[in-house]
Amino acid sequence: MNAFDRIIGYSAIKQELMQISDTLKHRSAYEKLGVTAPSGLLLYGEPGVGKSLMASAVIEDSGLPSFVLRKDLPNGDFVKEIKVVFEKAVENAPAIVYLDDMDKFANGDEQHHDAEEYVTVQSCIDGVKDRAVFVLATANRLRCLPGSLLRTGRIGRKIKVNPPRGRDAEEIVAHYIKSKKFAGDVDVKTIAHIMDGRSCADLETVINEAGLYAGYEKADQITMDHFMAAYLRTVMNLPAICGELGADLSVADKNYRQVVYHEAGHAVISEVLCPNSVTLVSIYNNGSDFGGTTGYFNDKSTTYLYWEKSRIIGALGGIAVIEQKFGSFDVGGSRDLDRAFRDAKDLVVNDCVCGFHLHADEYNDSERLQSEQEQVVSSEVERYYRKAKEILSLNAEFLERLAAALAKKTLLSAVDVQKIREQCKIVSVAI
Ligand SMILES: Nc1ncnc2c1ncn2[C@@H]1O[C@H](COP(=O)(O)OP(=O)(O)O)[C@@H](O)[C@H]1O
Ligand SMILES: [Mg+2]
Repeated sequence: MNAFDRIIGYSAIKQELMQISDTLKHRSAYEKLGVTAPSGLLLYGEPGVGKSLMASAVIEDSGLPSFVLRKDLPNGDFVKEIKVVFEKAVENAPAIVYLDDMDKFANGDEQHHDAEEYVTVQSCIDGVKDRAVFVLATANRLRCLPGSLLRTGRIGRKIKVNPPRGRDAEEIVAHYIKSKKFAGDVDVKTIAHIMDGRSCADLETVINEAGLYAGYEKADQITMDHFMAAYLRTVMNLPAICGELGADLSVADKNYRQVVYHEAGHAVISEVLCPNSVTLVSIYNNGSDFGGTTGYFNDKSTTYLYWEKSRIIGALGGIAVIEQKFGSFDVGGSRDLDRAFRDAKDLVVNDCVCGFHLHADEYNDSERLQSEQEQVVSSEVERYYRKAKEILSLNAEFLERLAAALAKKTLLSAVDVQKIREQCKIVSVAI
């Protein structure tokens, strides 16, 4: 097994790491060509995306001795430690100095570019120039690091590691669930959709947590409901709900019914306009007592404009359904309105969907233009609101079934939503 096989997905990054490792293993071959191999590499990105895993693969594959620096000593001692580590690397050259979480080396805030730790690292790097010491670093926040450290000749190569998406996320999910006893209806794609944009560490934690819920229930398999409970608890910071704790919609009190219909309204519109986009519907949120959460996945198969418009209409779905079902204004819907107005303004002002004359820039941002923009934005939101009501009326069966299931179960996963959708006649609407 190759050291890079431990990294699942990320084929482009793996390729680049292999090339860099090759320059470390076959230094003289590159020298014969008269080229200069990179002297350092920084892997950066948010926590848990696999930077340390990738760095360790480079070290292992290169076969070179490595000397690690991690901030675990008080300031003065740490500065001494930096010098010692570089000296050891020179003695054992060719070697690698591995600076893990380098943005944590200085105690200061983001502006602390001239911290003693960075100045020391920089002078050490300059001191080992042409001594066959490769500097490998990881960092969560690039902007915390002084630019001078990251120029050619020092840590010249930078690779951004993003949270896994699409195929990468599916491969990682498949890898994590392989060794666990998941039920047959749990599919990799759905989990990858739900976890879209989350780090590998989050994926690992949620999948493991799902197993803990199953174990606690003494179930012999991990189901989608266990996964959703773990997702709600771990990622969304909402109460973890397993099993059917809700109520029958026909007998539930009005507040409960309103929350259920509000969330069902968001979900129905999203599913009608962008099939398979809803990842979860829950009547819980982590803010107030009432109100829920609807999660979405953008598979990028629609155009940006279509997706934006459907998000606005979907945001208005909660308020629209309350007016239709209860004849009243939804007092809990102000955040949805804020969002609809913000996104509609973006389309009107930045994308000029209602004409170039509404475009604002530094030369043209008069009060008259602003008031015209406001009028157009609000009439656009009204128009999207009517669309929301049209979609809900034409898909009343889907709405009722989804609301009934949500009331009962309190949490619907993408799998549940798709099952309900398949039982209903869906009427599509042009937007
Ligand atoms: N591409 C990947 N394939 C397999 N496991 C991964 C991948 N990326 C991260 N992991 C796992 O996720 C966890 C966090 O990774 P780590 O390298 O510590 O992240 P970082 O250094 O970016 O904070 C580790 O358990 C690691 O093995
Ligand atoms: Mg790390």
